[in-house]
Amino acid sequence: MEKGLAAVILAAGKGTRMRSAVPKVLHPICGQPMLYYPLEAARLAGFKQLKVVVGHRAEEVSDTFNEADITWIRQTDQLGTGHALMCAADSLCGYSGALLLLCGDVPLIQPDTLRQLQNYHLQQRAAVTVLTAQLPNPTGYGRVIRDGEQILQIVEEKDADEQQRQVTEINTGTYLFDTAFVLSALKGLNKNNAQREYYLTDVVAAAVAAGEKTRALCVEDPTEVMGINDRCQLAEAEVLMRWKINADLMFGGVSMTDPTTVYIDNGVEIGIDTILHPNVHLHGKTTIGKNCIIETGVVVVDSQIADGVHLKAGSAIEEAQIGPKCKIGPMAHLRPGTVLTGNNKIGNFVEMKKSVLGEKSQASHLTYIGDSEVGKNVNFGCGTITCNYDGVNKHQTTVEDDVFVGSDCQFIAPVTIGRNSLIAAGSTITEDVPPDSLALSRTEQVNVEGWRLRKQKKSDK
Ligand code: UD1
Ligand code: CA
Repeated sequence: MEKGLAAVILAAGKGTRMRSAVPKVLHPICGQPMLYYPLEAARLAGFKQLKVVVGHRAEEVSDTFNEADITWIRQTDQLGTGHALMCAADSLCGYSGALLLLCGDVPLIQPDTLRQLQNYHLQQRAAVTVLTAQLPNPTGYGRVIRDGEQILQIVEEKDADEQQRQVTEINTGTYLFDTAFVLSALKGLNKNNAQREYYLTDVVAAAVAAGEKTRALCVEDPTEVMGINDRCQLAEAEVLMRWKINADLMFGGVSMTDPTTVYIDNGVEIGIDTILHPNVHLHGKTTIGKNCIIETGVVVVDSQIADGVHLKAGSAIEEAQIGPKCKIGPMAHLRPGTVLTGNNKIGNFVEMKKSVLGEKSQASHLTYIGDSEVGKNVNFGCGTITCNYDGVNKHQTTVEDDVFVGSDCQFIAPVTIGRNSLIAAGSTITEDVPPDSLALSRTEQVNVEGWRLRKQKKSDK
């Protein structure tokens, strides 16, 4: 038998209102698919057996998450939320703990709220405990009909009468159940309602009829339980989550001059006293050290940035490792496989990929460094290009320590430049250069004196 409390997460619906070829629960919010968040909230609240009901494009959903604590349950026809939980009944056979039920399209739910719901449910010894919210505009949600603490029924909008529609306490679609009770109550559900579906919400009235306790816990912050049905709500949820990510980072010691324009994915880590200027994007598995300055328009994806790094305006960094105290940009492009060891300066319009730069090496302007291994204290002049691609294969350039490269040089790879050499400006280097040498490959200059005057006299005639 598996250990730990169980949660069922409903995610079989089509998400018609998204108007998308992508299943609703896979639409991303702050860098993670929507379904990631309820799963993570359940885990953090202590629910270790996760049973996810999928139907519409089931494989696409299950392939996105391959965690071992998830059991995938197939609901071939979407006959309603009650039917969805029925599909999970077999996988709950022999399970006797309290059962959490979540919807895959409620991504802002917090683990603390789930813990409170669980505690209240257990303390009250209820058969069903519903997480509810007070909404000024409850349109579209199921209404909670109470008799004091006891919930008599949940009425869907489409089945509600005028008086029931006035109720502003709504069902968030999050519940704790006594497992044995709910599994037996599901057998009694029918489709006698406006949507011809098996409503999970009908187990509330069934509990009351059976003389069981039904309870409701009302969330303090209703934004936590917003359901995502269309792309406007998706954007709204993203704004709320983004603000929470930014606020957590600011409380943790990160400065943002305008947090409303800073876009940081869930899970990005940033050290204290780092300053983020407006319109910064930090995505994926990115970590940023302490005391960094990140200027406007910087985009960082899946990269590790050490302490004291200055990323200047408009730079793009992807799958790169940036060592301490580097200065990058403005307008630098560091592509996958770039490794800057530390104290490096990468200036404007410099592109790097699959290249390692030793300590204090620099390329200050207009340079391309690809497939290269570069030592310490190397200076690339303006307009250096590693010609790494012959149209078929990529080739390696090696530049040893203390090399000085003049402006406008090309390295035709594969080629190795020995340590402490100097490459004269304007050289095209096709052969290896021994250490401590001067390499110069320009053609000799010819000055033809008086040439211009002779040309001009000819054209005057
Ligand atoms: C449901 C509740 C409503 C509540 C609202 C909160 C019912 C009958 N109504 O309504 O009281 O206020 O959520 O957001 O439960 N799903 C399946 N299989 C199905 C049907 C749905 O897995 O056959 C999943 C959906 O993918 C979704 C969740 O269940 O994640 C909720 O379904 P949805 O159709 O959105 O229910 P609502 O009409 O919003
Ligand atoms: Ca919904």
